[in-house]
Amino acid sequence: MVPILEVQSLKKIFTKADGSAHTAVDGISFDLRAGEIFSFLGPNGAGKSTTINMITTQLSPSGGMIKIEGQDIRENPALARQKIGIVAQHNNLDRGLTALENLVFHGKYFGMGTAEAEERAHSLLEDFGLSDWKDDYVKSFSGGMAQRLKIARAIMHRPKLLFLDEPTTGLDPAYREILWKHVLTLNKKNHTTVFLTTHYMEEPQRFSDRVAIYNAGKIKAIGTIEELRELVPTANIIYLTLDQIPSGFEQFLQNDSAIRQVVKNDQKSLTIYPEDHKQALNKIINLVDKHNVTLENIQLSSTSLEDIYISLTDNKEGEKNNGTNANIN
Ligand SMILES: Nc1ncnc2c1ncn2[C@@H]1O[C@H](COP(=O)(O)OP(=O)(O)O)[C@@H](O)[C@H]1O
Ligand SMILES: [Mg+2]
Repeated sequence: MVPILEVQSLKKIFTKADGSAHTAVDGISFDLRAGEIFSFLGPNGAGKSTTINMITTQLSPSGGMIKIEGQDIRENPALARQKIGIVAQHNNLDRGLTALENLVFHGKYFGMGTAEAEERAHSLLEDFGLSDWKDDYVKSFSGGMAQRLKIARAIMHRPKLLFLDEPTTGLDPAYREILWKHVLTLNKKNHTTVFLTTHYMEEPQRFSDRVAIYNAGKIKAIGTIEELRELVPTANIIYLTLDQIPSGFEQFLQNDSAIRQVVKNDQKSLTIYPEDHKQALNKIINLVDKHNVTLENIQLSSTSLEDIYISLTDNKEGEKNNGTNANIN
């Protein structure tokens, strides 16, 4: 099956005011499968919006190729635009139109009939708490209201490919849930493919099929969260609480080959980074038994997406996978 989106060796070089060149996107390649939810995560200034702007035909690349449903977007940019919806990072609403007009004009531009566009516009305005302001001009809207209207507009025509560039920044938690309710409905019913950038790690953790960790113009890793877990030093963390930690207990654990590192949190609790979590759990329980202390709590947690993200974006080259957990502590 042809991927819905193919990005090959995509590059963007900006010329700064002093005439020097800045490579914002440094030859990245990836494909999106139809119907997947894909998160593109990276620090501020990494080039995420620049990547989205090129894919959505708003900015011309310095090199590389972009195909939507197998067709190079340069061959027919208007057709490419018909297939996509965008919540851009900047406010690109039409300030000279009312909220309702912004949605209805957008829907009709993308081929909806007047009645259908009006019905969907009213329903989205209701969901995003904007009904009372439907006839107000967008130029009077607060940042949060404009953001909600941008989201409603992007999903108005039920696009095949939806780009969400930090859609939930500055959005109340209740509206975040409404956004995700709509996005997941489009994803299920219309097979809409979603390309998300966000600073809230719980969103990709909850909703993404695949994640790319992107930094300084390059993709550092791409895959499911499970696959990315394999790239960081430990996939699991064990939290142990005893009534008291006997002397020498930490050293026993530290010397065990199933355990990579032990950190004492306080007089009663330890954080343990295992080499092999099943073996480590058994050894910990045995050791607790031998020392005749009371086990108050033991908990095994998966490394969170946040841990993976920090490990892959903060680690300096060459320090990766060097056997220490320095970046996790
Ligand atoms: N139009 C532009 N002209 C010059 N530099 C730009 C322009 N747009 C973005 N940049 C620079 O490109 C880099 C990436 O920006 P951006 O794509 O907005 O990052 P992100 O969305 O990941 O925060 C930044 O250093 C930014 O200053
Ligand atoms: Mg951005």
